[in-house]
Amino acid sequence: MHKNIDDIRQEFLNFFKKKGHEIVASSTLIPNNDPTLLFTNSGMNQFKNIFLGIDKPLFKRVTTAQRCVRAGGKHNDLDNVGYTERHLTFFEMLGNFSFGDYFKYEAIQFAWELLTDSNWFNLSKNKLWVTVHISDSESYDIWIKQVDIPNEHVVRIGNNTDNFYDSDNFWQMGNIGPCGPCSEIFYDHGDRFQGYPPGSLKEFGERYVEIWNLVFIQFNRQLDSHLLSLPMLSVDTGMGLERIAAILQGVHSSYSVDVFKKLISSISQIIKVSDDNTNRSLYVIADHIRTCSFLIQDGVLPSNEGRGYVLRRIIRRAVLHGKKLGTKNIFFYKLVPPLIKYMQHLSDKLCEKQDFIEKILLSEEKLFEDTLKKGLKLLEKKLSLLRGNILNGEIAFHLHDTYGFPLELTKNICLRHGIHVDQVKFDQSMLIQKKYAKESNKFYITSKNISLCNISNTFVGYRELTCRSQIIALFRVNNPVNKIYAEEEGIVILKNTPFYGESGGQIGDSGQLKTISSLFQVTNTKKYGQTIGHFGTVNSGAISVGEEVIAQVDQYKRKYISFNHSATHLLRAALYQVLGSHIIQKGSLVNDQYLRFDFCHHETMTAEQINTVENLVNKQIWSNFPIAADMIPIEIAKNSGVVMLINKQYEKIVRVIRMGNFSAELCGGTHAKNTGEIGVFVITKESSIASGIRRIEAVTSNTALSVIHQYKKLLQNIFKLTQSDNKNILSKIHEFKSRCQKLEKEIEHLRNKQIMHKSLSFIKEIYYIKDVQILIKQVENMMLKPLTNLIDCLKRQLKSGVIVIINISKNNKINIVIAVTKDLIENNRINALNLVHLIINTLGGKGGGKPHFAQVGINNIINTSKISTKIDFLLHNIL
Ligand code: SER
Repeated sequence: MHKNIDDIRQEFLNFFKKKGHEIVASSTLIPNNDPTLLFTNSGMNQFKNIFLGIDKPLFKRVTTAQRCVRAGGKHNDLDNVGYTERHLTFFEMLGNFSFGDYFKYEAIQFAWELLTDSNWFNLSKNKLWVTVHISDSESYDIWIKQVDIPNEHVVRIGNNTDNFYDSDNFWQMGNIGPCGPCSEIFYDHGDRFQGYPPGSLKEFGERYVEIWNLVFIQFNRQLDSHLLSLPMLSVDTGMGLERIAAILQGVHSSYSVDVFKKLISSISQIIKVSDDNTNRSLYVIADHIRTCSFLIQDGVLPSNEGRGYVLRRIIRRAVLHGKKLGTKNIFFYKLVPPLIKYMQHLSDKLCEKQDFIEKILLSEEKLFEDTLKKGLKLLEKKLSLLRGNILNGEIAFHLHDTYGFPLELTKNICLRHGIHVDQVKFDQSMLIQKKYAKESNKFYITSKNISLCNISNTFVGYRELTCRSQIIALFRVNNPVNKIYAEEEGIVILKNTPFYGESGGQIGDSGQLKTISSLFQVTNTKKYGQTIGHFGTVNSGAISVGEEVIAQVDQYKRKYISFNHSATHLLRAALYQVLGSHIIQKGSLVNDQYLRFDFCHHETMTAEQINTVENLVNKQIWSNFPIAADMIPIEIAKNSGVVMLINKQYEKIVRVIRMGNFSAELCGGTHAKNTGEIGVFVITKESSIASGIRRIEAVTSNTALSVIHQYKKLLQNIFKLTQSDNKNILSKIHEFKSRCQKLEKEIEHLRNKQIMHKSLSFIKEIYYIKDVQILIKQVENMMLKPLTNLIDCLKRQLKSGVIVIINISKNNKINIVIAVTKDLIENNRINALNLVHLIINTLGGKGGGKPHFAQVGINNIINTSKISTKIDFLLHNIL
């Protein structure tokens, strides 16, 4: 009987349930709180803390079908997909686990029974091979003596290097964490396929396929590689569902099992390629759409770092294979519906997130198309400038590295122009890049937090604004590289730098880094631990790690940043004197345009207080105190009343900035040489940013002057408009104000008169239903105030009756206002709310109000002419 993949998964779980295992659900692809792991790569990940003895297990025996991705980190099959019949980046791992319960004997017996028993998978014993670690005689003996496997099919495997347990038969989750020797089970697909048994020197090939790995977890690998013995012995096994399914369905390739067959057939229809079952590009696309969709479902989004970067690479790889098959249009997102059709049972979320997954894939593919176009343009430019018929391999590498251009694509385009690519140079560049990336594993960057381990550079910029230096690291889109080319953005790390790295509220410097042949324009600098990163763009040529540079800070900008920083210290000290000793800094920003200072204070500052602070600061400026920076022990600073932030950890020796006797503050920022340089200080705004926190914004030096100029210009315009001067401007404005009020009153009076008039004309249309006076009137575009005035007016004249005004506004919104006089309500004849309900029932809309006055609002009535008749009909029913 043919077993489909779902039957096989279920049969595995049922088998272990029978053997006392609890069936536990698959965890997501993003490992929970485990920074050592990129993606869930094995069934045991979710139980890591149980293996390590940190968490207590709920059950001692567990079985799972775990979705896994192996596309990064220690277990990475990305580059194998498309080249073998068995590798997948996304797959399901079937596993059984024992937490300090059974060990080698039962694990081996269970595996053998499930694989060979006629009630279960019923595989031929002659087709199975197993390996054990050379040192693991216990497992070897169990296989040889207690299992009826041909003895020559049990192979002992040694270590790959001189390091003990550096072996295919020693499994570890990552560079650190749970691990142990393992026994792997292989299936022999027969001599139709090339390949040699496990353990032989020539074992590579497709004939013998590993299907199940039984790991005997005994150790916790430490960062220094040392193996710590775990308190309990555990079992972790993993069988590739697609691989066992291939065997049970009588096929060889994982890509020929039912779920892949259906998926590949849908894909080939969508991208219009014939599917002869051996098309490796279709394999890749089918594998990658599974990986990408499940990764997005589990919360990964394409980006330039970490998990997102891997996802981006996989999407691009799939798209390029689509191109290889001749696809011209954006196609990858179109594969989500068939994927969901065949795999939704794995997760409810896949269906729920279909739109989202499609959107992400679509926009990512478009983005890649743009990048490729840019690369193509660059290549065409290079080709047009080329002399001779060989394209420099470095250019091909640059296209590959920056624009995702595969070498094959570059070669094909070149070939059309009769040009060859210098492959040797390309390979060399690739090698250097790989070596460099490996070496720079010590650097890692994330967008929020760049951590540059083991590097620190010296800041020489308190006194020098230009210095000679050397590039010690480069990053492009947050990845370490050894070259950044023209027009590319990146981050440069220098040995020593005069650039101040943004910190303590002071923004980073701008400027230039010049090499012999190139220029890097620095637009910002940030501090990462002790390292200063220079952000910017290469203007021309390229810059490389190791190159000498002349680093030059933009002096002009730095000057004004320093003035504003020094003024911030004076401001803080002045606030302390004027408002009191409760002033505590809550934040600050200092740039070349202005300064901002946030502090605790319970009320708005008065105009007088603001003036006093301004005067006090300016007085210090005009006293022209020298600004001194001293390095002193923190204890001395504390005891001498130097201002410092509460709760901040300081070094033992700290930098104190002193301005006369007026201000002394701990600070790492850059400052003017003396207070006089600040020139002038003007507060431009005082406001509240949160309860109990005020913010002052101020300007200094020539910005203060231009602010004064702006105010002056504004005043001139006001004088002109109001035909006044600085002597009579206020009385003029008062005059305008009272004239306005008078005119408003007059308008009100006239409007009321108009309404009165209108109401008189309406009164003529009063009619009776029984003995009740009724007025139904349609008006257009009336504002609420005149409308209610009109109704009041009508009510007064009517004395007793029902008034219904249908107000139609321009966009066909209708507001029906109903007023009923008191007598009718008291006699229970009618009330406005009853009518509102009936109107809503008949015409729709929403409404409410009181018995004497209520309203209904209705959107988009097409035929407004019938509303009066309908309301009249309703009134007849009520009365
Ligand atoms: N953790 C082992 C593996 O992934 C067995 O599950 O191969």
